[in-house]
Amino acid sequence: MDLVKLLEFLADGEYHSGVEMGAALGVSRTAVWKALGKLESDGVALEVTKGKGYRVRGGLDLLDYDVIVSRLQLHSDKLDSVCVLQDVDSTNSYLMRGDLLTSGYSVCLAERQTLGRGRRGRTWHSPYAKNIYLSMAFGLSGGAEVLEGLSLALGVAVANCLSDQGIQGVGLKWPNDIWVDGKKLAGILVELKGEAEFGWKVVAGLGINVLMSENDGRGVGQPWTSLELVSGKQTHDRSLWSAFLIESLIETIERYRTNGLSSLLDDWSKFDILAGKEVTLSGVEGGGVCHGVDSRGRLLVDIGGKVTVVNAGEVSVRPNESTD
Ligand code: BTN
Repeated sequence: MDLVKLLEFLADGEYHSGVEMGAALGVSRTAVWKALGKLESDGVALEVTKGKGYRVRGGLDLLDYDVIVSRLQLHSDKLDSVCVLQDVDSTNSYLMRGDLLTSGYSVCLAERQTLGRGRRGRTWHSPYAKNIYLSMAFGLSGGAEVLEGLSLALGVAVANCLSDQGIQGVGLKWPNDIWVDGKKLAGILVELKGEAEFGWKVVAGLGINVLMSENDGRGVGQPWTSLELVSGKQTHDRSLWSAFLIESLIETIERYRTNGLSSLLDDWSKFDILAGKEVTLSGVEGGGVCHGVDSRGRLLVDIGGKVTVVNAGEVSVRPNESTD
């Protein structure tokens, strides 16, 4: 049976009996019961109460394609497609499997990822209908150097968007982790397809924790936070947030295409949480003090009085103290 229809039924947070749902969806009680079991194993927190039926406590705010698309005002002409999936291995993988692009942007969002991927081969926790999993595919022409600053530009896009929407204390940890209060709120994974001479096909994937519960976040291997925790607000319209983020990403990528990273470096510095901080570099003996980034987006670290240039992907950087 159609799990989405069942979820839409349960989205109101009220109790519904198996008989009621079966009748409304035109299936047997057994089919409803099996589908509920599937939802539960997919991570939907169902409550069962004798005599009342089933409910999702607090209800579900499901992604709404119409809301997302109707709120895309500024750059809708540059969008080739927006797809909203219930279930996918990874929104990045989904777009990477697609054909090479036309000149516009393709967006994929999902309620859940079964194989969500983070940087450096890590898993990205992707519980159902709690967070934002958004990937955007676009073309970029130029040599390998055009990719260097892109990671930082994408981080600036997300940080500006969060900050413009009133989230306080947003910071960027080079190259593009989004942190608030010393904890990770969001991350970006950039993947590439294509040959430099024909232009790059870029897939930029953004994961933002929105309403992830302690329970859902168990197993995330680092301190994390969510929009709910940092804003103190228990409701966040993920469709609206998705629209704001898509607009900010396109806006910033267009700026990056025209003017390169130089036009975004002031914004980067505003959010840079490592500036002046002591850091440990993986794979490098000892650590050093960060001094911002160069014009190509490479991290500058003073190691024993000598400034060393660090490329994204070569090392991971860990602040030695709290960066809130
Ligand atoms: C990181 O490690 O900080 C990057 C996390 C990127 C997660 C997002 S969620 C949407 C997209 N699909 C994925 O599989 N990963 C990215």
